[in-house]
Amino acid sequence: TTPELRFDNRVVIVSGAGGGLGKAYSLFFAARGAKVVVNDLGSGLKGEGASASAADVVVDEIRRAGGQAVADHNNVLDGDKIVATALEHYGRVDIVINNAGILRDKSFKSMTDKDWDDVLNVHLQGAYKITKAAWPVMRKQKFGRIIMTSSAAGIYGNFGQANYAAAKQALVGLSNSLAREGAKYNITSNAIAPLAASRMTATVMPQEMLEALKPEFIAPLVGYLTHESTQQSGGLFEIGGGVITAHRWQGTDGVVFKADSSFTPAAVKQRFAEIDNFNGRVYYPASMQDNDWMGKLAEAQALSENAQGAELRFDGKVA
Ligand code: NAI
Repeated sequence: TTPELRFDNRVVIVSGAGGGLGKAYSLFFAARGAKVVVNDLGSGLKGEGASASAADVVVDEIRRAGGQAVADHNNVLDGDKIVATALEHYGRVDIVINNAGILRDKSFKSMTDKDWDDVLNVHLQGAYKITKAAWPVMRKQKFGRIIMTSSAAGIYGNFGQANYAAAKQALVGLSNSLAREGAKYNITSNAIAPLAASRMTATVMPQEMLEALKPEFIAPLVGYLTHESTQQSGGLFEIGGGVITAHRWQGTDGVVFKADSSFTPAAVKQRFAEIDNFNGRVYYPASMQDNDWMGKLAEAQALSENAQGAELRFDGKVA
């Protein structure tokens, strides 16, 4: 059998760890030797109210089982205080699981500025504040593992979740950028889009589905991605009920137009089916520098009258 991946002496911050997925992660890491900062301000599903007991109950459970954990009741918007809790108690931060979240589902028409701001704040600003405070610590120790919690709603869009989807997609961009900036310091960042039974999904999924989607079934991927032996970074994974898939972008071969006055909306209309043709040649850009697109730009220039005689070169770099 494969040896267990351990986290002895690693210090893990799990935000929103008083219930649902965050609780499952906390129990998971503690059982494998980590010291866990169990953060939760104990709010309701919509971000209303606060209660210290959410985090305290999880810490008690970990300690009773012989594990190490400390409760932190800060709002994720005070992410620096959460990191301070980790440093005060355990002297380092190795792993940050950005997991706290709320919902304020409404059709875009009915969504208030507050619904928008509160959801963006908890998911995106909260993840930013914790990660920003942990970043210099991780850089200095040349080790860090970050998880951003995205959502299928964020990847694909979802009716009634404009605020939530905007935040969840933003977290993918944040994760991908940190993956690049962290590479030289052995800091990785990955985004996950989980599907699991929790108070968040309790009312939107049938009972038998909820039973198949235990929150504990998300922890194996999070554990793998945050282990010291894992170099994987900049990934996006959907996971639920024992199924894990990896996701990336796909581009079509597209159409190269002559970039002159013949390049009009009507010209686009005429060839739109080709632009949008995913059944022909496709490519999978993994970075801004992937230069299939840059090659096409050179082709467009070569076609255009402007380019006649001019020495335009594209070296695959964009500013
Ligand atoms: P949950 O509601 O059980 O857990 C979220 C936790 O975050 C709660 O304990 C809450 O008290 C805490 N929290 C809320 N605002 C906070 C704040 N400002 N500061 C600190 N803690 C705060 O929900 P669940 O399902 O465990 O969600 C965990 C994450 O997974 C969320 O980011 C959610 O958006 C995401 N997710 C969950 C899915 C699912 O199927 N359960 C689907 C897609 C994404």
